[in-house]
Amino acid sequence: MDPDQQKIQRFQEKVFSFYHENKRQFPWRETTDRYAVMVSEVMLQQTQAERVVSKYLVWLDRFPDIRSLAGASLKEVLSCWSGLGYNARGQRLHRCAKIIVDDYAAEVPFAPEELIRLPGIGVYTSRSIPIFADNLDIATVDTNIRRIYIHELGLPETIRPGELLAVAEKILPHGKSRDWHNALMDYGALCLTGRKTGIRPLTRQSNFKGSRRWYRGRIVKELVGADVMFLEELTVRYGEQVVAVLAELEEEGLVERLPGKEESGLCFRIPE
Ligand code: ADE
Repeated sequence: MDPDQQKIQRFQEKVFSFYHENKRQFPWRETTDRYAVMVSEVMLQQTQAERVVSKYLVWLDRFPDIRSLAGASLKEVLSCWSGLGYNARGQRLHRCAKIIVDDYAAEVPFAPEELIRLPGIGVYTSRSIPIFADNLDIATVDTNIRRIYIHELGLPETIRPGELLAVAEKILPHGKSRDWHNALMDYGALCLTGRKTGIRPLTRQSNFKGSRRWYRGRIVKELVGADVMFLEELTVRYGEQVVAVLAELEEEGLVERLPGKEESGLCFRIPE
């Protein structure tokens, strides 16, 4: 066996043996339903797994299949999304559901090349859905998996995403894609943490009070809790910044302006 192969095998054994001893239980690990896996993967994109569990269970109770999600109003969807952050992710999942019902006969596609064409589905998620749902024999790399590969294989932090994915494909233990990725997730969350390695993620979240993201979250929450709101009410609460934030949310289709209300001041709501 060449030394590269030996190194790969030792790495696989280390991660699998950690997983064997420390495996975490999550409800999305109990299903192979592609819709349920898609919901979990979108929820997990920027939210910690422990915080996702209860939201995921309530969501599947309320929207048990793709048709029920596609038929819901955006307001209902955002109300169920509340607490997960980044409302645009919930909105995109809703748009995905409508497209899948209309264009894919209500079957979540299996192929990453199809999945990546859907709103909010990037390279990582287009691959993670069939990995976790179907055990598809391909690799995927998120922030945690990237950190593991860089640390364990001594790769430079500047490695390009495409190159890293090629490394990941080489290391994938064939036929065990689902277990391997679950094992990497647990190894990254419980053992090889960011704090331990000092390897920084490529992007960082900004949710501090007063950030653009904070205003976006507050405004959507206000509108989910009310039928309509006047611009004046929002500016009194949050200041003049809301004008720019509302314009951005409107552009993205997360809020809409009510027509014919100009005389009494601008009025906003979540679109029907
Ligand atoms: N983050 C993204 N996907 C995950 C999964 N399947 N389990 C735990 N954390 C995750």
